[in-house]
Amino acid sequence: MKNKPYDLFKMLLKTVFAEIIKVFVKDIELTFPKVIGDYDFINHFRKIGPRKSYKLAIYQNKTGKKAIAKMISAKIKSYHYYSLLNEIAIYNTLNSATDRLKKNTPPQYKDVYIPRLINTFEDGFRLISLVEFVAGEVVQNYSAKKKLELYIKITNYLNYIGENLTKAERSQISVRKSLNYIVLYPLLAVKAVITYPASLPYVLVGMIRFLRNIPIVLKNSKSSLIHRDLHFKNILTCENGHALIDFQQMVFSEPLHEYITTLRYFWYGYKRKEFGRLLLAEIIKKNIKRKKFNELFQSYAINSVTHGLTGSGFSRDIILGWFDFFKFSLNSDFTKFQTKNIL
Ligand SMILES: Nc1ncnc2c1ncn2[C@@H]1O[C@H](COP(=O)(O)OP(=O)(O)O)[C@@H](O)[C@H]1O
Ligand SMILES: [Mg+2]
Repeated sequence: MKNKPYDLFKMLLKTVFAEIIKVFVKDIELTFPKVIGDYDFINHFRKIGPRKSYKLAIYQNKTGKKAIAKMISAKIKSYHYYSLLNEIAIYNTLNSATDRLKKNTPPQYKDVYIPRLINTFEDGFRLISLVEFVAGEVVQNYSAKKKLELYIKITNYLNYIGENLTKAERSQISVRKSLNYIVLYPLLAVKAVITYPASLPYVLVGMIRFLRNIPIVLKNSKSSLIHRDLHFKNILTCENGHALIDFQQMVFSEPLHEYITTLRYFWYGYKRKEFGRLLLAEIIKKNIKRKKFNELFQSYAINSVTHGLTGSGFSRDIILGWFDFFKFSLNSDFTKFQTKNIL
């Protein structure tokens, strides 16, 4: 199987094409193969989360080692196919990089674990990844303070790995430049309004602000290795600490994008907001000295909310939370923010 980072625009074109042919050709029902390498199919695995774009299953080898398989249609190659391809490339790269860096890894990161990619499978119909199964719990029940410590540690560790990749490893990972966000934004905006018509005023106001900030974003964005879907369902407890999973979205891109997207996820509900407030204080502390920080925050928040609105099936509470986050981002002057007012 080719193990290249996907080309964003090729992927977009193919996704549009896939959506069109889906109207005429019904995709076949996918079934898991009985055997992948020396692993046997055991049972299907229930997926947590609102979107069900792929199937999961548990496999096991003769020695009793378990693996989790993620399967997606390869017949209609849409966005989901390319993001699984990306996840496979990321697992390969992170597995080899963390092996190589093992001896030199700073001690504070030693308890963060990246599961091993065991095998991949592709035929004309399906693409499957087989990853070591981590028999842990999700860390959703940690206190807000403990969550923040873990979150910072994981993002710092990813940044460390990103900075220490070889040239060959680096070439396996896609780069999402600020220009990519700008070109993609109008498409997101259209899809957001189609999916949630009530978002029209927000999208229009966001569009104006986003366009105005373009030169600033182009000039001031940075790049590091980011997960892009970092929340506490994607962190599992494991033997020697915590395992990070779900690498479909991982790219080199602006680190604020990571933090702001996580912040958006936590912008509703009482308990979640506690972590959100801590995270906001951390974002401000970390970035306050950056040039044009307000504009950067606004632009990545507008982009993140608009991106969120392109996914269907979210509850009213979640959507209202995102609208609230949007207003907050556009109306705040973070350079004058007193963290004591947030906490
Ligand atoms: N390596 C793994 N070990 C144990 N469980 C896993 C592993 N990878 C995924 N899972 C389980 O499958 C679920 C969905 O996988 P994930 O990669 O997070 O996909 P999604 O994009 O749907 O969130 C996870 O929430 C977790 O419960
Ligand atoms: Mg997940």
